[in-house]
Amino acid sequence: MYIVRNLVDFFNKPIIIELMAKFIIQGGKPLSGEIKVAGSKNAALKIFPVALLTKETIRISNAPEIEDVSRARETLIALGGEVKKINSPAGGGVFDIKLKSNKYIDLPSELVNKFRASIMFVGPMLATRGEASFPHPGGCVIGAGSRPIDMFLDGFKKMGAKVEIIRYGSGQVYRLTAKKLKSAEIFFPKITVTGTESLMMTACLAEGETILKNCAMEPEITALADFLNSIGAKIEGAGAPTIKIKGVNKLKGGEYKIIPDRIDAGTFAILAAASNSGEVLIKNCNPGHLEALWSLFDKIGINYVLEKNNIKIMPVKKFFACDIMTHEYPGFVTDLQSPYTVLMTQARGSSLIHETIYDRRLIFADILTQMGANITMCDPHRAVVTGPTKLYGRKLISPDLRAGAALIIAALIANGKTEIDNIYQIDRGYEKLDERLRNLGADIKRID
Ligand code: EPU
Repeated sequence: MYIVRNLVDFFNKPIIIELMAKFIIQGGKPLSGEIKVAGSKNAALKIFPVALLTKETIRISNAPEIEDVSRARETLIALGGEVKKINSPAGGGVFDIKLKSNKYIDLPSELVNKFRASIMFVGPMLATRGEASFPHPGGCVIGAGSRPIDMFLDGFKKMGAKVEIIRYGSGQVYRLTAKKLKSAEIFFPKITVTGTESLMMTACLAEGETILKNCAMEPEITALADFLNSIGAKIEGAGAPTIKIKGVNKLKGGEYKIIPDRIDAGTFAILAAASNSGEVLIKNCNPGHLEALWSLFDKIGINYVLEKNNIKIMPVKKFFACDIMTHEYPGFVTDLQSPYTVLMTQARGSSLIHETIYDRRLIFADILTQMGANITMCDPHRAVVTGPTKLYGRKLISPDLRAGAALIIAALIANGKTEIDNIYQIDRGYEKLDERLRNLGADIKRID
């Protein structure tokens, strides 16, 4: 682990990164052909904690081969679960997951430090083991300080849990205990994706009817609710702001096919538009999950065709700038803000990028500026991009997952060679990205 002194965030705090494998990209190659979308990271991560809620086997298919899913698997095993990989000629990861022991009450800190979705295990542990201890979760450094978990803790408290913070030396752990979880009426003061999912799955085994209000409406939440209902839960309203969950005594096993990753699909659509060099067919996706992106593509003049499970992007003579403001689903997703910012460096005119969800997700704009982009930071949430500008390859460090993908797009359209370090951050959420991009003609090498 290294602190890179010349990479600081807007608050002048050094960014801590791990220097390991890197990508070497030779920019400017025309991109065309087919690329396949992987299973959704943010859907896959939530199914492993569900295994704590049932004694029966859950079969997962279309799981993406990414670092965060490996961490979720390891966490389940550390908590007494068994994970068996099943050979699948059709491709996509297939696993059988099953609980073997219910006795563990500590989430391992080395795993919790690595991914924020580790917090998803806490509710099921409380519901079935009456106790959970864990440090503050890690993950992408995209919010002020460490990303807060207050809405989870407040929700668990409303359901009858006791929350203690135990301090030791310079660290601290949360210790949550509950004899029996009860139903509650919970209003989320801010829309939260994992908060909604966590309390929704926890309430499945709580006594009575829980009502969650001001919920997130992301497709991954609907997919999770559909699966939980298929194994015996009683959830109504997922995909809308109010979700009602009637507690049941137990859940069964079942099969969960992970939905396509809409951020994977959107990243490739933006890459094809930014490269603007050939026809790109993005396969195995659900274009209906990206309506906000298509409405922007209409405005800026990108030529695309949507099919049931595919997206085709064709080159255009020119395209134009357009402002965005990130928003909860179905608005423009924050996870595509950084790739879109790169796209705007190639558009005609000026666009205001307004990141409303996280206050450290725009800092990567500074790296784009070093590549030749014309970007003025207004404050941590807003930047003005003026295009089109030529980008130039250089040595970079990926500050987080989505910024890392955006920098790959920038490197692929840049003149010359780019080296991107800290690619663990990219491997956390994109399956074999280098391999898939080479299929489009990209010159990208992984150096371990
Ligand atoms: N927030 C709080 N308190 C909480 C929880 C969240 O203040 O207790 C704040 C956050 O700091 C943020 C806002 O609420 O400002 C929304 O955060 P949310 O809880 O929705 O984010 P999340 O559930 O932690 C998920 C995805 C993110 C994605 C966001 C927004 C997973 C594992 N992660 O995060 O995905 O950006 O929703 O759509 O589902 C990514 O894939 O790169 C990624 C970061």
